Amino acid sequence: VLVKAFSSSFIIPDFRGFCHHLDQIYNSCKNNTNGKVASYIPQLARLKSEHWAVSVCTVDGQRYSNGDVNVPFTLQSCSKPLTYAMALGLNGTDTMHSYVGMEPSGRYFNELCLDYNNKPHNPMINAGAIMTAALVKPNLSAADRFDFIFNMYKRLAGDEFLGFNNAVFLSEKECADRNFALAYFMRENKCFPEGTRLHETLDFYFQLCSMEITAESGAVMAATLANGGINPLTGDPVLTIDAVRNTLTLMHSCGMYNYSGQFAFKVGLPSKSGVSGCVLLVIPNTMGICLWSPPLDTNGNSCRGVQFCMELVSRFNFHNF
Ligand code: DON
Repeated sequence: VLVKAFSSSFIIPDFRGFCHHLDQIYNSCKNNTNGKVASYIPQLARLKSEHWAVSVCTVDGQRYSNGDVNVPFTLQSCSKPLTYAMALGLNGTDTMHSYVGMEPSGRYFNELCLDYNNKPHNPMINAGAIMTAALVKPNLSAADRFDFIFNMYKRLAGDEFLGFNNAVFLSEKECADRNFALAYFMRENKCFPEGTRLHETLDFYFQLCSMEITAESGAVMAATLANGGINPLTGDPVLTIDAVRNTLTLMHSCGMYNYSGQFAFKVGLPSKSGVSGCVLLVIPNTMGICLWSPPLDTNGNSCRGVQFCMELVSRFNFHNF
C-alpha cells in the first residue's frame, strides 16, 4: 500500500476526492425516508429504520466508511452469492449447474416453481440457495459443515467482523413454512443429490442467512469478489477465478429480486440485496461496496441502498457498458 501511495498508482488515484462524492451521496440518501423494515420475523422488525451505513474497500485496500458501519446485521440473502461462490469451488461449474439453473426466474424470490429442466432457476432465489446449501460439504456433520462455512466467510471478510445471530436463526426456522415447502417440492421433483438430508440442509440455509456482518466487513467481502477472489487486505486466495466470474454474472442478472433487470439496465453492476437492508455492490477490478439501511421498497431492496447505487453511477462511469 505504501509503495502504491508514493507512486500514486492506486486504482482510484484521487481517493480523497472520491470520498468527497461518497459523502455527498451518503447525505443525499439519508433524506430518503421511504420504505418499510422487513416484518416477517420479530428480530428483523425491530431493526431501526434510521440505520444507514456505507463502506467501501478498493482492490488495493483503500477504505471509506460513513454512518453505522460497525453495527452488526444479518446477511440474509446477501449470503446467497457468497455460498454459491464457495460451492462452485467445491463442486465445479458443471456439477453445480446440473442441480441449479442460471436463468432469472421472473418470479418472486420464494415462489414455488422450477425451471423447464425441473431445477431451481438460479442460486440467488430461495429454492436455488437451498440447493446450493445442499451442495456444500454434504458428507460432513452439521457442526463441521457450519465450522467449514464460517471459516470460509471469515476468510472473505479478512480480519473484519463476522458473527452469527442465533435469535435470527431460531426465528427464521420458526417462520419458514415457505422454505420447507420449497425443499419438499424440490425433493418431490428429485432435484437434490442422493442422500441429501432435507432438514439439516434447511437448518444450514437458515444459518447462512443468520451470519452477521457489519458494513465494514461486507465491503471487504465485496472487495474480495471485485479482486478475483483474493482478499485485498490479507492476500488470501479465498475463491477461484471461475467461481467469481460465475457469481458476478448471476448477481448481475438475478441479484436484486424482481428489480434485477432494471438494476442491470440502470446501474450495470453485479449486486445482491437481502431483507435486512443490506446491498453488496461489486465494481469488478475496482472496489467492493456494502450499503446497509433496513427500510425496503416493494421489491424488497433497501431504498437508500438502491438510491446510492443510482447516484454513484450518475457521477462515475462505473456502469459495465
Ligand atoms: O429465506 C428467507 O425467507 C430469508 N431468510 C431470506 C431473506 C432474503 O433476504 C430474501 N432473499 N432472496
